Amino acid sequence: MPIFDKIIDFLKRREKISPTKDDTAAVKQHSMGKMYARERIKYILDPDSFCETDLFVEHTGKDFGMDKKFLPADGVITGIGKIYSLPVGIFAQDFTVAGGSLGLMHARKITKIMDQSIKNGMPLIGINDSGGARIQEGVNSLAGYGEIFFRNTQASGVIPQISVILGPCAGGAVYSPALTDFVFVVDSISKMFITGPEVIKTVLGEEISMEDLGGARVQAEISGNAHFYAENEIECFEQVKKLLSFIPWNNKKKADSFPPRPPKHLLDIEKIIPAEPTQPYDIRDIIRSLVDSSDFFEVQQYWAANIVIGFARMNGETVGIVGNQPLVLAGVLDVDSSDKAARFIRFCDAFNIPLITLVDLPGYLPGVDQEHNGVIRHGAKLLYSYSEATVPKMTVILRKAYGGGYIAMCSKHLGADFVYAWPTAEIAVMGPEGAANIIFKSEISSATDPDKTRKDKVKEYTEKFANPYVAAKNGHIDAVISPTETRKYLIQSLTTCANKTELKPFRKHGVPPF
Ligand code: HXC
Repeated sequence: MPIFDKIIDFLKRREKISPTKDDTAAVKQHSMGKMYARERIKYILDPDSFCETDLFVEHTGKDFGMDKKFLPADGVITGIGKIYSLPVGIFAQDFTVAGGSLGLMHARKITKIMDQSIKNGMPLIGINDSGGARIQEGVNSLAGYGEIFFRNTQASGVIPQISVILGPCAGGAVYSPALTDFVFVVDSISKMFITGPEVIKTVLGEEISMEDLGGARVQAEISGNAHFYAENEIECFEQVKKLLSFIPWNNKKKADSFPPRPPKHLLDIEKIIPAEPTQPYDIRDIIRSLVDSSDFFEVQQYWAANIVIGFARMNGETVGIVGNQPLVLAGVLDVDSSDKAARFIRFCDAFNIPLITLVDLPGYLPGVDQEHNGVIRHGAKLLYSYSEATVPKMTVILRKAYGGGYIAMCSKHLGADFVYAWPTAEIAVMGPEGAANIIFKSEISSATDPDKTRKDKVKEYTEKFANPYVAAKNGHIDAVISPTETRKYLIQSLTTCANKTELKPFRKHGVPPF
């Protein structure tokens, strides 16, 4: 065949394989507010940067009439593109082709891109829109999932892995996103569940809609499976790009530096922190008054809101921020907030992102519910992840730092490089009320006016311990600083720790309290 004809033949083949816009499945896709797989890829990547791979791969299914079925690109578009002019691996499942279901070859297309991403140190973006294991391919589809999960685990802590859920993500398919670093969901479009409504109805006799079972809100607010929630796909892609602006391309690199910018919001401490220690305030107001351009990119905003985590920049460099949130449950640590913070700390540590911890908490949440749900095991994750992290760790104690909460929130004892306390800090074993009631119990009960004695004892305890000076006297903190000096101290500490090295004894890996 002459060369020109070969090129025409190739173009025709390629045209045939690309999904058509007029078949029913494609029309349905758009009518649901969903883009096509290729449109998604095009939107998320730098213009004209996508180089597709494995377009001509065909499925190997033979049963249930599959031998006669042609599935364009086997239901998944894969390749390499660029974001911020840097290469990324990407795949997008195509629901218009056999429901984006995953057979062996579909899986192999994905694992090839995963291998390229790991080998070449580039982030992997997976756009999930699939009915799960391709039922007709039986165990071959399960094998495909296994090969993906294996690579998700190998890639963990090596390259950032991002999962975007833009349709169903059903059955065992959910475990790939669950093994990745960040999961993005979109209102009314994302649906994640292990067993669908039909199975639940058959087995348990309960009726539930897909949305109520595993919709975007459920995953972002209740289960904590999702890290970012968006109203539509475009907003979601902007979030993905924003996240990538804060993190490095792999674990050997640091995140890109940006020109330093002062915060837009000034720290008006008297306006933000109420005089009464029991009154709440929004920790995000403090964060915004400390970080560059007051730009705080919050992660898992809607789940376990008693702790706030996210990325920001200090003097142009990315930092991970963890802060107790006095607005929600007084900022206590509990099962979910410990999990949330612990995982974030491990991500930051794996990817060379310094940590800043802002402390204001009365301790761990008491209660049968918490104990029975494993607050001991979950709370230990926080201690473990702070202790093992070797990135620069800076802590500022703003107000309360009581009991185990004081230790757990990146105290000096867990290896913080610099710990600062505001003059408003109260560092003690417990709150003055509780403490006075216990240690002065007999004096209070035998007093002629127990109420007055109790108040006096609370005052005495407050003056003695509910301040930062006992901790300062013992060297448990590095400095008591004025709130207005906080940014200066943090930036100075980050500069000091820029080349920090910390050697650890050899081990294969630790055994964290998963
Ligand atoms: C093969 C599938 C499929 C699947 C969907 N399709 N899921 N084909 N295997 N798993 C096909 C449908 O047959 C249909 O083909 C097309 O995709 C569109 O599907 P619809 O059902 O028409 O779409 P919709 O009404 O939007 O419903 C979407 C859905 C539903 C909710 C995802 O298809 C569904 O419930 N699918 C099964 C989900 C599930 O239980 N998966 C788990 C599999 S087990 P045609 O040709 O008619 O257009 C699993 C275990 C993995 O994943 C374990 C790994 C460890």
